[in-house]
Amino acid sequence: MKSDQNSEREGRSSESRDSLKSLNEEIRSCTRCHLADDRTKAVPGEGPGRADILLVGEAPGRDEDLAGRPFVGRAGSILDRCLNDAGIDRSEVFIANVVKCRPPGNRRPKKDEVEACRPYLKSQIELIQPKVVCLMGNAATKAILDVEGVTSLRGQVFKDLFLVTFHPAAVLRNGNLKEDLVSDLLAAREKAEGSRALHQK
Ligand code: URA
Repeated sequence: MKSDQNSEREGRSSESRDSLKSLNEEIRSCTRCHLADDRTKAVPGEGPGRADILLVGEAPGRDEDLAGRPFVGRAGSILDRCLNDAGIDRSEVFIANVVKCRPPGNRRPKKDEVEACRPYLKSQIELIQPKVVCLMGNAATKAILDVEGVTSLRGQVFKDLFLVTFHPAAVLRNGNLKEDLVSDLLAAREKAEGSRALHQK
């Protein structure tokens, strides 16, 4: 028999999924900025409605634009490997981006594009209620914390929620950073598990 606590969590989880579903639909038909003109598919993000860990990247690339799913290209493969090394199952985490549509030629998202998309990420954080949000790279760190300089900030936690780390594409360019990304993901996992244990007390 399910405990009251479990059924309450499942209840909240399906509520959250319903709202995430409508948020995803809104994102898929969004025309708030010009990135909508050239996209194949918007990429709202994917993962459980109540994930303890939310990973935030920059913006979809070509593979993600075609698939409508985040981190399915080369950066996705390295992310999967790093998650695996940190003992995290990709299906347990929610993966999103600052900007939900692909910037042409994979350029960095512009300020107005980040601003147009910001409410979506904010809603995702509110609905998912993660225990830790990993800001992967400068775009995510700048969008959420308004600071830059991942190399010096990585591994640090801000507002007891946001953990700054490298973007998987940086690891593709410099394999030496993989160890740091894995260790930050491990720290995220430990933080999520720690706060889950506290809540169960
Ligand atoms: N890079 C990102 O920032 N996000 C993706 O989804 C893929 C590559």
